[in-house]
Amino acid sequence: MTPQRLHIAIQKSGRLAEKSLDLIRDAGFRLQRSASDLSYSVENAPIDLWCVRDDDIPTFVADGVADFGIVGRNVLGERVAGPAAPRLAEVMPLGFGRCRLCLAAPDGFSYAGRASLRGVRIATSYPNLLRQFLNQEGIDAEIVTMRGAVEVAPRLGLAEAICDLVSTGATLEANGLEALDTIFESEAVLVRSSKVFEGTLARTAESLVTRLRGVIASQDAKYVMMNAPRTALAEIARILPGAAAPTVIPLAGRDDLVAVHAVCQESVFWETLEALKAVGASAILVLPIEKIM
Ligand code: PRP
Ligand code: ZN
Repeated sequence: MTPQRLHIAIQKSGRLAEKSLDLIRDAGFRLQRSASDLSYSVENAPIDLWCVRDDDIPTFVADGVADFGIVGRNVLGERVAGPAAPRLAEVMPLGFGRCRLCLAAPDGFSYAGRASLRGVRIATSYPNLLRQFLNQEGIDAEIVTMRGAVEVAPRLGLAEAICDLVSTGATLEANGLEALDTIFESEAVLVRSSKVFEGTLARTAESLVTRLRGVIASQDAKYVMMNAPRTALAEIARILPGAAAPTVIPLAGRDDLVAVHAVCQESVFWETLEALKAVGASAILVLPIEKIM
């Protein structure tokens, strides 16, 4: 019996496409591209990737056509906020593709808080998320739904404001628009269908999630080593970001000094190193971690 293959839907093109492939490769899966470019098969695990339009990913996963998907939380949120909530769940954030869904208007729009939106026409490709926000805030505004190129709506006289994704801010700037407020924070997330996996599929799904968690966990993680006065151990443990109990090793011929080793789960900044030095640490080394499990 040939093993059942797990299917993951990813974005075909756009801001998440390349990074989704990188993440899967970083998890140790070797990808073989199909002739059509529309799918990849994993050589060393029973997994296939399907490259589809990002807006279709929640539907594919909810219908169980794909088992998992990598999609922006904005796309997922828009579907979940819609009339028929899809049958799928967010498994974990993936740490890339960060952006914000923002209200924006032409420079000079007088904005004194959310009440300024009363009676305003707002163009967006995210009508469900925008409606949810307006309802929560008790604002009566008009939603103009567009499929794309929302940033041109004010210039065309279709709307006074827009609600669109902002990443670098270049699109807003190029169109003389100013961000007023953020209504939703987004990044790439892993979603899975609510169906129950069995046999090979269950094992493959578990291995996928475990490996992706490992990749994400090791991205910011660092292995930190230093020499330090024994008396500074409590201070050092407090300074190290996201470190569990550090390993303390005696140094030959030195009763006052110890070597401290720790895995830091959060970013180690120069400020952290300066703080360590200030409490007496020396010979501080920060090393990347390749894998964590
Ligand atoms: C978004 C948004 C803007 C642009 C903003 O579109 O609609 O056009 O990105 O990015 P910036 O702040 O870096 O200029 P996206 O490329 O995500 O396409 P899509 O929404 O049609 O999938
Ligand atoms: Zn899209």
